[in-house]
Amino acid sequence: MKALILIGGFGTRLRPLSCTRPKALFPIVNKPLLQWTFEKLAENGVDQVILAVNKLTEFHIRQQHLSKCGLTVKYSLDPPKMPLGTAGPIKKAEKLLGHEEPFLVLNGDLITEISYREMLQSHVEGKAVATIALHEAEDPSSYGVAELADCNRIKRFVEKPPRGTEPTKLINAGVYVLSPKIFSYIPADRAVSMEREVFPKLAAENALFGHQVGGLWIDIGKPEEYLQTNRMLLETCCDKLQKNGGFTCKEPVALGKGVSIGENSVIGPHAVLGKNVSVGRNVQIRDSVVFEDAQIGDNAVVVGALVGEAARIGRDAQILEGCVVADHAKVKEGASLTKMHVCPAKEVT
Ligand code: GDD
Ligand code: MG
Repeated sequence: MKALILIGGFGTRLRPLSCTRPKALFPIVNKPLLQWTFEKLAENGVDQVILAVNKLTEFHIRQQHLSKCGLTVKYSLDPPKMPLGTAGPIKKAEKLLGHEEPFLVLNGDLITEISYREMLQSHVEGKAVATIALHEAEDPSSYGVAELADCNRIKRFVEKPPRGTEPTKLINAGVYVLSPKIFSYIPADRAVSMEREVFPKLAAENALFGHQVGGLWIDIGKPEEYLQTNRMLLETCCDKLQKNGGFTCKEPVALGKGVSIGENSVIGPHAVLGKNVSVGRNVQIRDSVVFEDAQIGDNAVVVGALVGEAARIGRDAQILEGCVVADHAKVKEGASLTKMHVCPAKEVT
């Protein structure tokens, strides 16, 4: 089976950390999201992956030297300065995807437990041009929402309906099985939205089907969701480290290679420190993700925050709830920040 992963757009809701890396390369418990995705695709019998990206994203991905897990990985590029949306890249990759059999399409910003094998089985060839994974959400208004008819047929699909007008709580989980017939529904050479243009048309022609899924499902698209994703995966795969040297780890915690932590510091619960992070003495870090090579000075407090790659947090500084400190930024000693976004390489006193 072939799979196409959508890894474009601007990641605006994850700025300023997404100024310097695509969403698909955000680390989830110290492993890039795309690496998690490759592993899951390989486990589900996929052998070829097409990454729908722009040139800069291709550069970032190649630099990561991810393990390909036995997959053949190809790139399909959006034209310069012309993002193709969520359907345009599928049309662009028509030759690579081929016309022989159904294929998988994934939004590249998801962590899920969806079985792609089961999805493929539920795709009723001949009837369905597209089968969408559907997950229940408490607040469906920030997603695509589907209304089902008989036999899992979707009779209506509406993207991001105003709150209070959602027809159901069943949301588009961003995983599709598509038949090659889909190519005739997507105009070439322009940006096309799968959710706003293609799905409503397929629903009107009775060619859109749903496959309901449960279990873990999360879109890392916003800082609080990104933190929540790390929190949830930490619960399942945290390091078994209680106390080591003069500091305390309150599980669940994940520490990358080469992390150093000073005396009397308390790490966790729910803290992820990337490789080579250096933490001073008497520091508290919890409910936070600290990217690789960051430095946290003595007596600093990091709670409910994201600290970017090689950022420097001065001694006695407090980085509190809702803060996102971008790569290479410097927060000077004693500064106290709440709900602040610090741009890449910026200095804050
Ligand atoms: N190549 C390419 N080009 N990829 C793109 C582009 C583009 O122009 N625009 C967006 N993408 C990719 C994003 O990187 C992401 O992986 C995926 O397409 C979806 O875009 P988002 O911007 O993350 O959309 P969303 O989260 O608001 O909504 C989508 O996902 C929801 C589930 O998380 C929709 O598909 C909703 O219907 C769905 O419920
Ligand atoms: Mg998204």
